[in-house]
Amino acid sequence: MNRRTFAISALSALGASRVMGANDRIRVGLIGSGGRGRQDWSQFVKQSDVDPMAVCDVYDPFREQGIEMTGGRAKPYKDFRKLLEQKDLDAVIVATPDHWHAYITIAACQAGKDVYCEKPLSLFVTEGRKMVDAARKNNRVVQTGSQQRSGSHYAEAVKLIQDGGIGEVHRIHAGFQRNLYPGLKPTELASGLTSALDWDMWLGPAPKRDFDPFRCIYNFRWFWDYSGGQMTNWGAHHLDIARWIANADGPSEVSGFGGRYSLTDGGETPDLQQVTYRFPKMLITWTSSEVAEGKPVTLDIYGTKGMMTLLRNGYTVTPEKIGSKSDAKAAMPAMNVKGGELDQTHARNFLDCVKSRKRPNADIEDGHRSAIMCHLGNISTKLGRSLKWDCAKEQIVGDAEASKLLTRPYRAPWRLA
Ligand SMILES: NC(=O)c1ccc[n+]([C@@H]2O[C@H](COP(=O)([O-])OP(=O)(O)OC[C@H]3O[C@@H](n4cnc5c(N)ncnc54)[C@H](O)[C@@H]3O)[C@@H](O)[C@H]2O)c1
Repeated sequence: MNRRTFAISALSALGASRVMGANDRIRVGLIGSGGRGRQDWSQFVKQSDVDPMAVCDVYDPFREQGIEMTGGRAKPYKDFRKLLEQKDLDAVIVATPDHWHAYITIAACQAGKDVYCEKPLSLFVTEGRKMVDAARKNNRVVQTGSQQRSGSHYAEAVKLIQDGGIGEVHRIHAGFQRNLYPGLKPTELASGLTSALDWDMWLGPAPKRDFDPFRCIYNFRWFWDYSGGQMTNWGAHHLDIARWIANADGPSEVSGFGGRYSLTDGGETPDLQQVTYRFPKMLITWTSSEVAEGKPVTLDIYGTKGMMTLLRNGYTVTPEKIGSKSDAKAAMPAMNVKGGELDQTHARNFLDCVKSRKRPNADIEDGHRSAIMCHLGNISTKLGRSLKWDCAKEQIVGDAEASKLLTRPYRAPWRLA
């Protein structure tokens, strides 16, 4: 290995896995014990067949909170490479910011660990395909943290729609709208960098930058170097369900527009964005707004017989009226179905698959394909023009400038194999 780079293959010799029975205990580590990492951890820690073994974070207070949640049992780490060397770990949760997901997931697969990796699966399209390849090559179970995929009412609604229950569907609208005007503030380290955070290890493969508390904990979402704004934050959830309903690998064409027009907090990603995806006989649209909530639309599926609104707390169907005005009749009965628990079911599905070796509900391939929709939406928005997408080859057609944005070199010494 080149001494100046830390290539992932350095960890591959550690790969080890055991065959598990239904009564075996699963030894889990957490990498990234921030807001979401601790939510995930709380689900795993309470499972009767989980031993929470290790917590890694580059920010001391959050690492300590993750350890506390295990009654002090878990071993602390500042460097995830050391955690992955721990031979008695079966699985890891990756809940770092998005710019670390690919590297850590691939390294974990090569070290023989199954992975629960938070959404959005990747920061760049090319990373996602390498992640899928690493999971398959190393025979790893990898669940994307898209918990809606484990909601029984989501599965029920998708089946209802695919069975023609709301008629022909040619249009799905997904969105996330709220009012944050005039912007957000740093949530941690607001008065500056201290020894509590290893900033260089937080940046990792992302470009070098002076510390800025607003770029860091939670608010990394609004900077292109680490994430993709609401397009990848909430888009990864709702467009994943839209793509599931469409029963398609991906769009053939994408057009996006928007910008950061009103927020003055220093973030980069759009505060208003509108994207249209062309699928065979279907248009899927995405709207996000950070400066006017209006109706906080989430996921509306328009059928010829009824319109379904599919949310985390359940779904409703509003019947279409068919016929001339005087004798128009409801094309189907109205529906109102309550949703169930998502986070625990999703964690449990992962753990069951760690034992059975089956593909989980939000298998890495689906996480990758849904992340692609978000990334293409952002690339089109950045360039302000439509893109043609070759879904099978995972290439943008006839646009060299746009194609360059499907990837980004890592900052040395980090390197994706
Ligand atoms: N599934 C969901 O509903 C959901 C909800 C919220 C967030 N998320 C996802 O979870 C991820 C984390 O988001 P968050 O809100 O928890 O952010 P956060 O900033 O609160 O937490 C991220 C943590 O990762 C740590 N970290 C950074 N680099 C690290 C490294 N090299 N090694 C170890 N730890 C490192 C940070 O110090 C921080 O504690 C994001 O990808 C986000 O999209 C998913």
